[in-house]
Parts: sequence; structure tokens; C-alpha cells
Amino acid sequence: MLNIDLIAGARPNFMKIGPIYKALQAYEGKIQGRIVHTGQHYDRNMSEIFFQQLDLPEPHISLNVGSGTHAHQTAKVMMGYEDLIAADRPDMVLVVGDVNSTLACSLVAAKLHIPVGHVEAGLRSGDMRMPEEVNRIVADRVSSVLFTTCEDGLVNLIQEGVDQDRIVEVGNTMIDSLFSLLPRADERPILEEIGVEPRGYILTTLHRPSNVDDADQLAALLDVLGQLSEDAPVVFPVHPRTRRKIDDLDTYDPAKYPALHLVDPLPYLDFVKCQKEAAVVVTDSGGVQEETSALGVQCLTARENTERPVTVTRGTNRLIGIDPLEILRATRQVLDGDIQEGGMIPLWDGKAGERIAAYLVGLAMKD
Ligand code: UD1
Repeated sequence: MLNIDLIAGARPNFMKIGPIYKALQAYEGKIQGRIVHTGQHYDRNMSEIFFQQLDLPEPHISLNVGSGTHAHQTAKVMMGYEDLIAADRPDMVLVVGDVNSTLACSLVAAKLHIPVGHVEAGLRSGDMRMPEEVNRIVADRVSSVLFTTCEDGLVNLIQEGVDQDRIVEVGNTMIDSLFSLLPRADERPILEEIGVEPRGYILTTLHRPSNVDDADQLAALLDVLGQLSEDAPVVFPVHPRTRRKIDDLDTYDPAKYPALHLVDPLPYLDFVKCQKEAAVVVTDSGGVQEETSALGVQCLTARENTERPVTVTRGTNRLIGIDPLEILRATRQVLDGDIQEGGMIPLWDGKAGERIAAYLVGLAMKD
């Protein structure tokens, strides 16, 4: 029996581990998956509701680390996870994505000589000011198996000198969740609840430090979203860190733009529905660039770089930078009909979790 820990820390991790956990069920008796929730995200609408909607069991282990500076949060996860696996050692640890929990658990496992598999390996933004870039690079460096979502990841890893026999091209487990839950998402009445029409609104998410930590930038972005809301209503599910920054702004007046809908973070199915029916999505998220491409929905990424260039070369994503006036111009252009045609991205077919499970069972049989 191969005992594998699946590490889940922050919101975007949950839809990535779900399909792997479920695919492992097919190999009962050969592989046992244990979900370890670090508690990096802990609000009901950032965490628990995702487990429910993804049909995942309650985490087998909760480390409850909560928020903190990068060092505090990472250290708390490392201490909690080291204590756990010193007492109850898995045969392998799977980490996903690029959040602080990914970094923390991969380091702990590597130092205890437990093999680490990194799911979503090899993505690079080239921007070391992003905490996620640091997390990705370190997690890849200490992992023994690197599961890639797309060719970009493979090429980057080979350029960095990783042996090709440690790289496994599996596709995108986040897209597995998206495709399998799309029919349920379609049934959600969230557009009626917010008061917008299919294809008639702009969806936006912003939480990156480069957009929300500077008060002037955040105020300018809110003003641009307000102006856009006079062309088409804007739906803006607000991440907790963004909410706090908006609350700190003394210039923001919620009454000024009635069609700018600032709502709480949405449950997974509601957010998928909002993406699927949007006229255009303006975001600085990584996962949203991927999901919109898979759904064929226009995406404008308000960042200077992306670790997911495949969504630009093959999908529906365009990188437009963080200048608020450029964001205004580019969004209006899409509303006026300037569409980027996307296509199917190789291996984003809903079966990535099965490929990972099949690879792992191969390891289990060797033992
Ligand atoms: C983290 C990830 C980021 C990912 C994002 C998705 C890192 C370095 N960043 O950023 O890659 O895109 O998650 O959401 O890991 N908070 C709450 N409730 C929660 C969780 C957070 O109120 O359930 C607040 C906390 O006060 C915290 C802040 O939000 O200070 C930021 O949370 P944190 O996990 O540190 O980073 P994110 O910005 O969410």
C-alpha cells in the first residue's frame, strides 16, 4: 500500500487535489490518499464550501495555521506538517500549485527524504517579486516527480536541467474539476441573484499585491471598473485581502457606481457559472486565466507577466498590464467585438487526475 498525502492549503488548491483524490479511489487497496488541509485559507466561503461543492470528504488532517506574513505562515505550516509526518509518515507527498503551503510541505517532506510530487510543475512567470514564483521554483527543485499541465512547463523544466524521466505530462487537474462540475454550475441561479444577464456583464477578480496593495492603484482600478459598469454591469467577487484594502480607502464611494457589484467571494459552482456566462473576464488570478480559456470566454489579464503563456498562445487570454487606462481601453475593445479565438489546450480534457493516479499506481506496483 502506497500512502500519499495530498496537500491543500489555499482556495485554488482545492479544485486541483479533488480530481486526484477521486481518481485514487479506483485503486483502493493499492494506494491510500490522505487530505492534509494546512488552514492557509479558512473562511467558510474560501474553504469549506469548496470541499462540499467538489464532493470531497472533510480533510483527514487540519493544521489550522491561519494567516500571517509569508515567513510566519510558511513556518507554521512547516512546523505543523513536520510534527504530523514525524509521527505518521506517508510514502509520498503531493503538492499542487504555487501557494505558501505548497512550498512549506515540499520542503518538510524533502528534508525527511520523503518523495515529493509537484502537480502544476514548471510554470514560470520570470518575476521573482511574486511570492508564487519563489514557491514554484523551490517546490520544483525539491520534488522528485514533476507533473506538468502543458508544454510550457515541460520546456521550462528541461531548460533548467531537470531529467526528462522525472517529468510526467498529465494535463490540468483544475480543468478536470471544471468540466466535471459544469452541469451543476449551470443550474446555479447566481446571475439572477446578482441581477445580471448572460453575456451581458463583465466579471472581475483582483487580489495580487501589484494591483491591490498600493492605495492609488487600487482606487484607480475601482474607478475604471466603475466607468466600465456604465457600459455593462461589473460583477466583482472580492477576495478578503482586497476587501481589507478597499475598506482602508477613504476615497471609495460604493454609491457612485450602482452597476459595480462588489460581492463576497463566491462558492466554486457560482463562480464557474459567472465565468461561463461573462462577456469578458478581467483578472489577475492564475487559475481564472486557465478556466476562461477552457470555457472559451474572453479573458484580459491585468498583470505584467503570466506563468501561463499557453492561455495566451492557445487560449482566449490576453496580457494587458496593470495600467488602469489600458485596462479600460482593452475591456471596451472586447465589448465592442474584438474577440480572441481560442482552441483546445492539449491534455486539458478532464482526465489529468486519472493520469496522475495511473502513474502513482505504477509506483505502488513497483514497491
Ligand atoms: C493566496 C496565494 C495566491 C492565490 C490566492 C488565492 C500565496 C503566496 N498566495 O494568496 O497564490 O492566488 O491565495 O486566493 O500562497 N484571508 C481571510 N480568510 C481566508 C484566507 C485569507 O480573511 O480564508 C485573508 C487573511 O487575512 C490574509 C489574506 O486574506 O492575510 C491573504 O491570505 P493569504 O493566504 O496569505 O494569501 P492570498 O492573498 O489569499
